[in-house]
Amino acid sequence: MPYKANTNRYQKLIYRRCGNSGLLLPPITLGLWHNFGGKKSMINESKKMLFRAFDRGVTHFDLANNYGPPYGSAEANFGKVMNSDLSKYRDELIISTKAGYDMWPGPYGEWSSKKYLTASLDQSLKRMNLEYVDIFYSHRFDPLTPLEETADALTQSIRNGKALYVGISSYSSKQTIKMNKLLKERGVSCLIHQPSYSMINRWIEKDLLKTLKNLGIGCIAFSPLAQGMLSSKYMKSIPKISRISDNSSLDKKMITNSYLKKIKELTKIANKRGQSLPQMALSWVLRHETMTSALIGARTVKQLDECLDSQNNMDFSKYELKEINKHAKEEKINLWAKSSKA
Ligand SMILES: NC(=O)c1ccc[n+]([C@@H]2O[C@H](COP(=O)([O-])OP(=O)(O)OC[C@H]3O[C@@H](n4cnc5c(N)ncnc54)[C@H](OP(=O)(O)O)[C@@H]3O)[C@@H](O)[C@H]2O)c1
Repeated sequence: MPYKANTNRYQKLIYRRCGNSGLLLPPITLGLWHNFGGKKSMINESKKMLFRAFDRGVTHFDLANNYGPPYGSAEANFGKVMNSDLSKYRDELIISTKAGYDMWPGPYGEWSSKKYLTASLDQSLKRMNLEYVDIFYSHRFDPLTPLEETADALTQSIRNGKALYVGISSYSSKQTIKMNKLLKERGVSCLIHQPSYSMINRWIEKDLLKTLKNLGIGCIAFSPLAQGMLSSKYMKSIPKISRISDNSSLDKKMITNSYLKKIKELTKIANKRGQSLPQMALSWVLRHETMTSALIGARTVKQLDECLDSQNNMDFSKYELKEINKHAKEEKINLWAKSSKA
C-alpha cells in the first residue's frame, strides 16, 4: 500500500522561524546520519521512522553526502523512499545535505574547495533523485581553503538552482561572522548554522548563539541527546543494541563516573517534570529563542515518538533551570570541536 500522510500532521507541532528568513522549521528535525544507510535498502524500521516523523509534522530531514555506511547510502536509500512514497509531498519537505568531510579518494573528495562542494552537491542530488535541496551546508570549516572560495561555491549552488538556501556547520563564532559577510557580499543570506549542542556539550553558549541572534541566522542543534548519552541506556551496562555497541561514533570511554553521576541527577529532575531525560534534554535545547530546531537521530519509531512528545512540556521554571545547571556540565564528548576552534 502506498504511503498516505496523516491529514492532521500540521496540528501537532509549533513551527519556528529560521533566523530572519521566511522559512519555518519544525522544532524537532530527523537526521539520517545513523540507521538509514546500508547497501541494499533502508531497513523497514527506518522507513517507518520517516513516515512517522512526517505524520507527526516533522517536515525537515537532514542528510550529508557521506552518511551511511557505506558513504552515500543514506542519501541513496532516502532517494528511493522519495521516489516511491514522498515525492508527492516534495513541496512540504525541507531536505538538507552537506559536504565537507571525507567522501571520495583523492584531493577533491573532502574539505571545502569549490571543486569538491560543487561535485558533491551534484552527486547528492543524483543519489536522492532530487532537482534541488532546500539547504546545502558547508559541513565544516576548512582552514586551508580561502573562505571566499567556499562562499563562491555555496553562492553558485543557489544561482544554479541546486539549493534554495545555504548554511554552515561547526563554524566558530568568528568564522561565522566572516562567512556571513562573504555571502552577503555575493547577495546571499546564510540561513542557518548547525552546531553540536546538548546538556553536556555547551560550547555554543560562549559566543556563537549571540552571534547568530545578531546576524539573524537560525540555529539547528545536532546531537541534542549527546548521541544517546542523555538517556538511561548506559546507566547499568552497555546494551547490545546501542550506538556504543555499533562501534561507530560513540566510544565506551565516554561512559565515565562523572558522566553517570550527572545522568542520575538530571533524570531525577526530568522525572519531576513528568518527562524522560531525552525529553527534557530536547525541551532544554529548545529553550533559547535563537534555537530553531533540535536535530535528533533515532533507531526506532518508539524512540522517535518519545522525542516528539518532549513538545508536551517546553516550559522551565527558574528553579528547574538552576537545578539543571548544577549537573548539565561539560563532558569531553564534542567530536567536532576541532573544526569550531579555528
Ligand atoms: N553537522 C554535523 O557535523 C553533524 C554531526 C553529527 C550529527 N549531525 C546530524 O544530527 C543528527 C542527529 O545526530 P545524533 O544521531 O548524534 O543525535 P542524538 O539525538 O543526540 O542521538 C541519537 C541517538 O540517541 C538515542 N535515542 C534517540 N531517542 C532516544 C530515546 N527516546 N530514548 C533513548 N535513546 C534515544 C539513539 O541511540 P541508540 O542508537 O544507541 O539507541 C539514537 O541513535 C544526525 O542524524 C545528523 O543529521 C550533524
